[in-house]
Amino acid sequence: MENLTAEEIEKIEHEISLVPVKKAACIEALKVVQQHRGWVSDESIKAVADLMDMSPAELDSVATFYNLIFRQPVGRHVILVCDSISCWVVGYENIREYLTAKLGIQYGQTTPDGRFTMLPNVCLGCCDHAPALMIDNDLYKDLEPNQLDEILNKYA
Ligand code: FES
Repeated sequence: MENLTAEEIEKIEHEISLVPVKKAACIEALKVVQQHRGWVSDESIKAVADLMDMSPAELDSVATFYNLIFRQPVGRHVILVCDSISCWVVGYENIREYLTAKLGIQYGQTTPDGRFTMLPNVCLGCCDHAPALMIDNDLYKDLEPNQLDEILNKYA
């Protein structure tokens, strides 16, 4: 368990205390690690699985299913581009293409300066304001490509 810091363990144990069975806190536990480290390594999966009384394989399958848990290193900021139906209908491709050209990265890639990683994402829950994307915890709606430079400039 030496992979986790005392602070991480304390936060994870707090999450466990809020639910009836340990496993129910597994996503929150992974989020704690991600908040501290930016992503969740194999070693962290093993350490968290120990705490949750789960096998690493079981926890890994949850982490892989939940697409906001990053299993590979990501940039300082993560851009989640919604590609679900409402955003697709109103042409989210214009947003993705602008970002790809501007940042020089495809989905799953990180800019060479480590500033942004861009990922596709399922519905961000604001279909009536499509197209939408999220950067870190900030949601942007009713997007036009010409708004993107100003948005990106907020993230160093
Ligand atoms: S489909 Fe994009 S926000 Fe719902």
